[in-house]
Amino acid sequence: MANVVVVGAQWGDEGKGKIVDWLSEQADVVVRFQGGHNAGHTLVIGDMVYKLSLLPSGVVRPNKLSVIGNGVVLDPHALASEVDQLASQGVAISRDNLRVAENATLILSIHRELDALRESGSAGTKIGTTKRGIGPAYEDKAGRRAIRLMDLADLPSLPEKIERLLTHHNALRRGFGLPEFDPQTIYDELSSVAPKVLPYMDAVWRLLDGERRAGKRILFEGAQGALLDVDHGTYPFVTSSNTVAGQAATGSGLGPGAVGYVLGIAKAYTTRVGEGPFPTELFDAVGELLGQKGKEFGVVTGRKRRCGWFDATLVRQTVSTSGIDGIALTKLDILDGFETIKIGVGYMLDGEKIDYFPASQGAQARVEPIYEEMEGWTGSTAGARSWADLPAQAIKYVRRIEELIGAPVAVLSTSPQRDDTILMKNPFEG
Ligand code: IMO
Ligand code: MG
Repeated sequence: MANVVVVGAQWGDEGKGKIVDWLSEQADVVVRFQGGHNAGHTLVIGDMVYKLSLLPSGVVRPNKLSVIGNGVVLDPHALASEVDQLASQGVAISRDNLRVAENATLILSIHRELDALRESGSAGTKIGTTKRGIGPAYEDKAGRRAIRLMDLADLPSLPEKIERLLTHHNALRRGFGLPEFDPQTIYDELSSVAPKVLPYMDAVWRLLDGERRAGKRILFEGAQGALLDVDHGTYPFVTSSNTVAGQAATGSGLGPGAVGYVLGIAKAYTTRVGEGPFPTELFDAVGELLGQKGKEFGVVTGRKRRCGWFDATLVRQTVSTSGIDGIALTKLDILDGFETIKIGVGYMLDGEKIDYFPASQGAQARVEPIYEEMEGWTGSTAGARSWADLPAQAIKYVRRIEELIGAPVAVLSTSPQRDDTILMKNPFEG
């Protein structure tokens, strides 16, 4: 039995939450390993809708252990309020079902403010971030001045750490012409939230090592998508963490061997929120229709998502960078009723045909997609629960995608509902 890592194969919002919730029935432990509350994972179970940003999507099932690994940047206020929100929906969270890595980096209010300031326009490149403070928190982690969860358990040591952090941040603030931060405000913010998050603190690497040795099944839940990866994505229009599958090991404290099957999640078309290149983006009525039918609005920020055709070249690339063994294809039903459907199969760059997405920002902005056109289908795929329920032409579309991206479709999701899912190959069986 393999452990499974679920990662986004596009620019996020592929439907990871639903697939993780569905797969978590077979898992003992569900682990987040990067990102933070910039993620927006929606679970629809019967009449209930759960919106998660920080907690692993296995948390709504009883008897599963949810883990937030060291690779996550943790806003303690966001954690506390998500726990409260779930409690109001009848999901009880305690140390019995949630652990958070002691060495996870904290997101503070100064990070949120800096993120928003940089996004406000005049101060540099606008990325279209979620303004959750994700980038600035990762910067401080790499800069070795971050406050980590374990520091909240040692309050007397905090003032010195805050001082070190503010040496950097107040210099920035002076540069921006803003008033300096008061260390006492930050101390108060942290000491007041400490009792709400410390109960979940644990040495996650040790916990997971024990679970692994006991033969428990671990499901790793990625946030964002491979094209938002800080190394392999559309830099600088990316998030500030590694979102590819390799990060599951580093971000949880296990070795690469602990990650078994890599399940990439891809939408049957493409969306993106925020700035940055998007070769198959549609600016016409078809794009509008995709957005409307697909309800393409962000869970976290409510922003309208940009929509376009499936870009097989990009997904083939993320199959490589994440080592994807199989794909869960989602939202196929949104394409129901389209007369023709296009798939991006390559690009023209400065008059030359290429079969990969170039790395440089300039070239990424210049590529023009080459399309292959397919006939659509008239029947409905919505809510289908077996392969036999699908129109022949829809099956043809799925098969063509498999050929183009070089990976099989292991799971097909046909609605947001947990059980509207067709399983071709169980990822836990490796
Ligand atoms: P899930 O897990 C889609 C995007 C933002 C922005 C860029 C950087 O729901 O798929 P950040 O706040 O991370 O510094 O923003 O990344 N972004 C996402 N887009 N889905 C997400 O998460 C995203 N998380 C961040 O829109 O372009
Ligand atoms: Mg999202």
